[in-house]
Amino acid sequence: MENASTDADPIDPAPIEARLRVDVFVQPGEGSSLAADVRAGLAERPRRIPPKHFYDARGARLFDAICDTPEYYPTRTEQALLEAIVDDLLEEVDPTMLVELGSGAARKTRTLIEAMLRRGAATYVPIDVSEEMLRRSARTLLADYPTLRIHGLVADYDRHLGHMPDGGRHLIAFLGSTIGNFTHESGARFLGKIAESMGEGDRLLLGLDQVKDPAVLHAAYNDAEGLTAAFNKNVLRVMNAQLDADFPEDGFEHVAFYDAEKQQVEMHLEAMRPMEVRVAALELTLAFEEGERIHTEISRKFTRESAERLLADAGLALERWDLSEDGYFALATARGA
Ligand code: AVJ
Repeated sequence: MENASTDADPIDPAPIEARLRVDVFVQPGEGSSLAADVRAGLAERPRRIPPKHFYDARGARLFDAICDTPEYYPTRTEQALLEAIVDDLLEEVDPTMLVELGSGAARKTRTLIEAMLRRGAATYVPIDVSEEMLRRSARTLLADYPTLRIHGLVADYDRHLGHMPDGGRHLIAFLGSTIGNFTHESGARFLGKIAESMGEGDRLLLGLDQVKDPAVLHAAYNDAEGLTAAFNKNVLRVMNAQLDADFPEDGFEHVAFYDAEKQQVEMHLEAMRPMEVRVAALELTLAFEEGERIHTEISRKFTRESAERLLADAGLALERWDLSEDGYFALATARGA
């Protein structure tokens, strides 16, 4: 029998619920930290708010729309690169479990799952803070792939990596260059936690947007349709909705630029006039001067050298480096050092 390692029958598949396990480590809203981040970050100079607060349902939809703009190359470039290397990569790593940080029903996940299933049995371990999203995308995947098993973790991947199901070899995917949202120090700390959770045969697959022509980077974060601007300003709506604040969306301008020295794109929201903003839930009034900015995101761009430095500082060693043909995006495969 081919596929001796699984008892799944693709003609008469096990019911979805029999192939799905979900462990819950965080409750809804827990760890969102919006109130604390606003209280601390908006009082600082320069004012700042972490990029994770972009992503309510509308923010997630806006990000998906950004990925389809002609200017925002990272998603499609990473997808094409992954498709080109996935069979060769899996031949090398031979994982039994695909662990994905910040999971989804995204195309990249499907590319990895399909390639694993071509080789035999596969368990997908999505880690996401939203149980609803996780269960919804898990059920869709289980319906599409009759031999797939899913063991999802409703968890904060910063805190609960220790609960990864053990047994077999894990391929831990952290794609989309989300690591670019971290500073070097916080990124190394975060990847260090992943490194600690990794066993002998486990590998990290890390998506890394690359340093390139500043004009290309500028355009990617200033798309003509204004979707990135709307995405940036979405954090104002999130604060208005969740903290009963009154940030006027038309009072702030989207500012995004590439800092070649720091090798990072920065996004800010710039006050277009002096204004007072009330954050009722925090009993807070914020006075903005004209031109004052809220720093909303860094998106670091990497070279092979800076990637290797980051991995080394996390206790990881680069094992494989795959670069897209245009040099725009890389997939790094790393093992514990
Ligand atoms: C999802 C964090 C990788 O930094 O490029 C897209 C988010 N910000 N446009 C990125 C984003 C502005 C994106 N990451």
